[in-house]
Amino acid sequence: MDKHVYYEMRDDRENAYTINAQSLKFGAGVLAELGQDAARLGMKRVAFFIDKNVEETEPAALAKQSLRKESIDFEMFAETRIEPTDRSILLAGEFAQKGAFDGFISLGGGSTIDTAKAANLLASYPDDLMAYIYAPLGGGKPIPGPVKPHIACPTTSGTGSETSVVSIFDLEDRKVKAGVASPLLRPTLAVVDPTTTHSMPPGVVAATGFDVLSHAIESYTARPFSSRPRSESPDKRPPYQGANPYADIGSLAAIRIGGRNLVRAVNDPQDHQARHELMFAATLAGQAFGNAGVHIPHAMATSVSGLKHTYRANGYESEKPMIPHGISVVLNTPAAFRFTALAAPGRHLEAAAALGSDIEGAGPDEAGLVLSGTMLRMMKETNLPNGLQEVGYTEEDIPALVKGAFAQKRLLLIAPREVTEENLAELFKKALSNW
Ligand SMILES: [Fe+2]
Repeated sequence: MDKHVYYEMRDDRENAYTINAQSLKFGAGVLAELGQDAARLGMKRVAFFIDKNVEETEPAALAKQSLRKESIDFEMFAETRIEPTDRSILLAGEFAQKGAFDGFISLGGGSTIDTAKAANLLASYPDDLMAYIYAPLGGGKPIPGPVKPHIACPTTSGTGSETSVVSIFDLEDRKVKAGVASPLLRPTLAVVDPTTTHSMPPGVVAATGFDVLSHAIESYTARPFSSRPRSESPDKRPPYQGANPYADIGSLAAIRIGGRNLVRAVNDPQDHQARHELMFAATLAGQAFGNAGVHIPHAMATSVSGLKHTYRANGYESEKPMIPHGISVVLNTPAAFRFTALAAPGRHLEAAAALGSDIEGAGPDEAGLVLSGTMLRMMKETNLPNGLQEVGYTEEDIPALVKGAFAQKRLLLIAPREVTEENLAELFKKALSNW
């Protein structure tokens, strides 16, 4: 086989992938059109989920003003937590059930958007939250039908929740991340106004920006969709399908834009151009990983962010101690990419080149080192913690970290090579100290 072919055609292998494209509006100032967008979707009474950190900002004021102008009735819910939990989701669900709303709007980071998605589900089809959580953590009950229209307006250039099919939260008692996943949860419309990033502290831009890069690189290096056995029916295809030619376009573009803008956007809050471009990269990467999926760094992150709560990151000083999602992901990438590069060296080299590294003369054996070296340079330049030990972990925590990560089967399945518990233990050990 030609070594440049990533999607091999075989009669016994998957031959199709599905792209559920997102309706999207992108532009500086577009929140001033929110009322018209809501009216067009038939919304008359809206549950408006808002991130406390943006409640008093200019973009939020514009959004509310625009709803009033269209005479759309709305009730605010500002109790969403950063890194939501099953408990905070249930509170949001109660609010949504009581309010008899015909539409949902979320304005905030991924946590706010994810909370609105889950609340919309619980109000549209009331049931025990555990029933809807994906297996094996929950019952994996399919969502019975369409939920109410939801306009998602991200204010941090990170999670891609505005285009994704998942809602992720902590199961507090079990200290693990879980969630609900279904194409029906994808917001009806994403309204992306990059001026919302102007007020973000540098630490938040760093955490969310590295999440973007991780989404893009993980999607690009995921196992090819064409490596799965052919599906007996279209319903059997998983939501995370693996790398595919359509997702590749967005992933590669997002890696390029991130490589050019991430460090600038963090270190110079006045560089609005860089922040706007990073917001666009987040949108592209969100779209890509929504169809392709993410793998080892995100699987490891679920236990990293779920297990210990002692760390306070730059830019998150007003929150309870926690490791922001993007940081819990990116700290694993140097070790993870050295591991996955063995199975897909060409893709890892291409990712490093897209980030801006010179790969001239680098052979397949060096692919992992080159890509992780590039990530490490960017992490140092933006003042990130040096590995998991700086956010509170020691070697003694490794068994618990492995347990949480190994439970994320749907993510590990699309890694480009098989991952055992022993592999994960080794990766966590390496990620304790990155440089
Ligand atoms: Fe992420």
